Amino acid sequence: MTDLPESGGAPPRRDLAHRIDPAQAGSHLPDSSAALVESHGAVPDPGLAPHEHRRADVDPAAERRAERQVTAMFGLSALATVGFVVAFFAVPDDAAVLGIGAQNAALGVTLGVALFLIGAGAIQWAKKLMPDVEIVEDRKPMRSTDEARAELVATFQEGSEDSGFGRRTLIRGSLLGALGLIGLPAVVLLRDLGPDPGSALSTTLWDDAAEGMPLRIVNDVTFTPLRPEDLEVGTLVNAIPENFEGSERYDGLPHEGPARINARSHSAVIVVRMSPEEIRSQQGENWDHEGILCFSKICTHVGCPINLYEHRTHHLLCPCHQSTYDLSDAANVIFGPAARHLPQLPLGIDDEGYLIARQPFAEAVGPSFWERG
Ligand code: FES
Repeated sequence: MTDLPESGGAPPRRDLAHRIDPAQAGSHLPDSSAALVESHGAVPDPGLAPHEHRRADVDPAAERRAERQVTAMFGLSALATVGFVVAFFAVPDDAAVLGIGAQNAALGVTLGVALFLIGAGAIQWAKKLMPDVEIVEDRKPMRSTDEARAELVATFQEGSEDSGFGRRTLIRGSLLGALGLIGLPAVVLLRDLGPDPGSALSTTLWDDAAEGMPLRIVNDVTFTPLRPEDLEVGTLVNAIPENFEGSERYDGLPHEGPARINARSHSAVIVVRMSPEEIRSQQGENWDHEGILCFSKICTHVGCPINLYEHRTHHLLCPCHQSTYDLSDAANVIFGPAARHLPQLPLGIDDEGYLIARQPFAEAVGPSFWERG
C-alpha cells in the first residue's frame, strides 16, 4: 500500500492506489498469489514506471478545484442550452450579422458551446477525478500439469493406432500423394492469366473504315443504319459497324462462332448526341457530326460494356467499378479506376445521309493494361 497524505475523514477511494514493490514481491498479495510467486517464479514487477499520483489524488485543494472546474463546465453548458432556446424565439429569423443569418449563427454557437462543454467536462472529470489505481490480477500458471500432458499424448497415440494411420502404409501413402497433388489445379489455372493478348484489342471491325471505305454505323439490335435525324439531343444508342452482319459489301468476314462474338465485343460503340456548343473537346478536330459523337463502349478499366448515360452532365458511368467519363470532354475519366479515355471514332455522313465512321479507332479499345510496358 502506498502512503498518501491524509485527506481527512474516511480515506478516499484513490488511497487504494498501490503498486507492487519488487523488494516485497508477494508480501501484499493474497496467500495463493504469494505462493505462486514463490513456486512458479512469477515476475513480481513487469518493469513499469512508478505510478505517479495526480495532484487531485494527493492534494484536497486540487481535488476541490477540479470538481469546481467540471461543475462549471456542465453548468455553462446548461446555460448555453438555455441560450439556444432563447435565441430561437428572440432573434428574428430575417436579422443578419456580417452578412449571415443572425438566428442561425446564434443557434449554431449556443448549441456548439453546450455540446463542447459537456464533452470537455466529461474529459476533465475522467482525467482528474475518476479513480486512478493499479490493480493486481492473479493468474494461474499456463502450463498444464504433467498428468494432463501425458494424458493428451496417450490419447493422440491411441487415436493414431485406432485409425491405422501408422499401420496401413498403403492408405497413408496414397492420402499423402493425393494431398500433395491437390494444389496442382490452382497452379494450372494460372495459365488462364495469359497469354498476353498482344494486339487483339487493337484490331476491330472498324479497321475497315480506312480512307475511302467508310463504314456505316448500325443499331446493335435492329441492325438499321443510323441517320443524324434519328438521334435527338440527349439520346444514346448502342451500335456496331455495318460489316458485322456480312452485308454484300463486306461478305467474307468471320461472322460465326467465337470470331463473331469477339468481333462484336471489340467493335461495340455508343453514339450520343448533344448540342454542338456543349462539346468542350474531342480526340480529333471535328470528329463529331452536328453534335453526334461516337465512342468505344468498352470500359478502359477492365473491359465492362458501358451505357449508363446522364445526358444533362454528359457523364457515362461504368456499372462495374464506377469509372465515369465526360463525353463532352473527349470522354476523359473524371472518376474511378479507369486510366484513360474511351477511344473515339471520327464521324461523317455518306451520300445517302447515313452516319459513317471515317476512320478506325486510333488506339486499342478496352483495358489499358494491354498497352503497358
Ligand atoms: S470495368 Fe469499368 S470501372 Fe472497372
